[in-house]
Amino acid sequence: MEAPNAVELKAVTKRYDELVAVNNIDLTIQTGEIFALLGPNGSGKSTTLKMLLGLVQPTAGSVTVLGLDVQKEPVAVKQQVGYVPESPSVYEFLTGIEYLDFIADIYGVPPAEKQQRINEYLKALQLEGREGDMINSYSDGMKKKLSLISAFLNKPKLLILDEPLNALDPRSARIAKDLFHQLKLQGVTTILSTHVLEIAEAVCDRIGIMYQGNILALGTINELREKASLPSSGLEDIFLKLTGTGDLKPVVEELLR
Ligand SMILES: Nc1ncnc2c1ncn2[C@@H]1O[C@H](COP(=O)(O)OP(=O)(O)O)[C@@H](O)[C@H]1O
Ligand SMILES: [Mg+2]
Repeated sequence: MEAPNAVELKAVTKRYDELVAVNNIDLTIQTGEIFALLGPNGSGKSTTLKMLLGLVQPTAGSVTVLGLDVQKEPVAVKQQVGYVPESPSVYEFLTGIEYLDFIADIYGVPPAEKQQRINEYLKALQLEGREGDMINSYSDGMKKKLSLISAFLNKPKLLILDEPLNALDPRSARIAKDLFHQLKLQGVTTILSTHVLEIAEAVCDRIGIMYQGNILALGTINELREKASLPSSGLEDIFLKLTGTGDLKPVVEELLR
């Protein structure tokens, strides 16, 4: 039997009173894809990711994850998904290793595998040697790494990562990217959000550009470039220039012309 799509959003809207955070989006992500939601702050990326986990209830529409209706089977979905929130709240009063042990136990990772898996990821993400330190002594990047490890521990089928590479230095970001690709080879689907085109381009098979709650363009980076009919470097330059500061609207309008 063919695997179901990893994610299917149909006509999904999320309103907060008057504000439309996500506006009637349709989105299908296939099993094994690495997919990025790319857009400026406030465009609805985090809200979309939270709806995939059942952490936010859609105002309208249907959300299917790994073949399951998220509203009907939120626990079954969460058991198969690894999630890294935008600002992970890791328990500051634990050491790194205590935290990872705790998370692995919650997921029911078999004790024989637990230590090995934790050690592999600590090593891969270069936290080895710091796992005995209190989390409140960690940098933001180290906390992000810890949160990534905790999302990987359960061998999830789907990773939902909200701005996963933000606090990481370039070398660590590179290691994280390599990990996503290794997991892809094992059939893991990864959905991440970012406001940095460079990240989306370097890591992802397909990109959805979000703006004001809408998915304005969807495709591989080459397809998006073709849509924009810009020279190959043009799109990247424009995006990078806008990163973190300006408004994405002109870029998006350019893309959709
Ligand atoms: N809990 C909430 N209550 C009210 N408004 C919210 C809430 N969460 C998000 N929003 C609003 O929804 C819009 C989209 O937010 P968000 O999904 O966090 O965007 P992004 O992740 O792309 O920066 C923003 O205008 C934000 O202020
Ligand atoms: Mg966000």
